[in-house]
Amino acid sequence: MTHPTPNGSRPPAASATPPNFWVGPIPVYGDAILSPMAGYSDVPYRAICRAHGSAMHYTEFVAAELLQGRPNYFWSLLDRQPGERPMVFQIFGNDAQMMLQAARRITTLGPDIIDVNMGCSTRKVSGRGAGVGMMRQPQLVAETFALLTRHLTTPITAKMRLGWDDQVNYLEIARILEDNGAALIALHGRTKEQKYGGTANWDAIAALKQAVCIPVIGNGDVSTPAGITAMKAHTGCDGVMIGRAAIGNPWIFARRTRESLTFAELLATIRQHQAEMMAYYGRRGISAFRKHLKRYLEDLPLLESLLTPLMMAASAAEVQDLLAIAEQRVSQFAGPPHQVHLAQLLRRPQPDSLARH
Ligand SMILES: Cc1cc2nc3c(=O)[nH]c(=O)nc-3n(C[C@H](O)[C@H](O)[C@H](O)COP(=O)(O)O)c2cc1C
Repeated sequence: MTHPTPNGSRPPAASATPPNFWVGPIPVYGDAILSPMAGYSDVPYRAICRAHGSAMHYTEFVAAELLQGRPNYFWSLLDRQPGERPMVFQIFGNDAQMMLQAARRITTLGPDIIDVNMGCSTRKVSGRGAGVGMMRQPQLVAETFALLTRHLTTPITAKMRLGWDDQVNYLEIARILEDNGAALIALHGRTKEQKYGGTANWDAIAALKQAVCIPVIGNGDVSTPAGITAMKAHTGCDGVMIGRAAIGNPWIFARRTRESLTFAELLATIRQHQAEMMAYYGRRGISAFRKHLKRYLEDLPLLESLLTPLMMAASAAEVQDLLAIAEQRVSQFAGPPHQVHLAQLLRRPQPDSLARH
């Protein structure tokens, strides 16, 4: 049996393209992965990232209690495209039985993997003992994973932080996860108290990799292709998850820096992404696309005056007209768009190696 490569196609031959790692029986081809991000890692953006090589496809997190009753809006967060594999549905909650019920129901949609979010730090989630709040309840972690892995054949994984506060307990929690059948752990190298501040602790990711036999995905502060290589070298992790730095920058999964892109390549991806948004969301795609569009273009001073009109554009055609003006402007001031590299247009060069290490 062959499995899809990161872009959804099949590897030429199993022996020619060995998986980078396995999640239970599920092979993963590739080692750079788009993080689950509420409001971002939807069907359209996952398609763009997959086309550039993202190796696993996580939904954003969905509350287990919202998956109990009749199908509602939240079920649409579990939408997926054919060929999107391995597909990971992420859920969260603070009640093991309720998470089992939710997981049982969503397995009917055929995810390859179900992930339990143990990293969300917002008060609304963690304050009621879900997300990273689970890390304060080792017994709940044990009970949840024992139940899920005993009753389901789908591999169950966890995405967690270092702990609640300075009293980090990720190694204790990791042991509980492994003892109760978890098939992979993704670790964001920060505590709940840190939220997104400071720097992610990569030494902790290295310590986790040493402590468990299941695969480990490292996460936190990777913002360049060189950063992917650096995290792997520093920690020995099996895969690297990229969140914020992947917004407006799917090329990171193809190990390409923004500087190396031509303006024509940037425009082609923006147009493709907009088309995916319109196809999936319909008219709502225009407003949902704005935050992405901003991230694609905000560091290009030559196009600064077009940003506000782009954010106010009311139709896909209006966005296209403005992008045509952007193209003309680049042609006029820098050269043919297929020959102009973003390095010539960027406000300041992005670091090609990790500034933080
Ligand atoms: C806007 C946003 C939404 C997020 N939503 C989720 C989520 O639904 N599930 C999850 O496990 N983590 C979520 N995260 C955390 C990221 O997956 C990731 O762990 C974090 O951003 C650190 O990685 P980075 O330094 O590469 O951004 C979110 C982060 C951001 C910025």
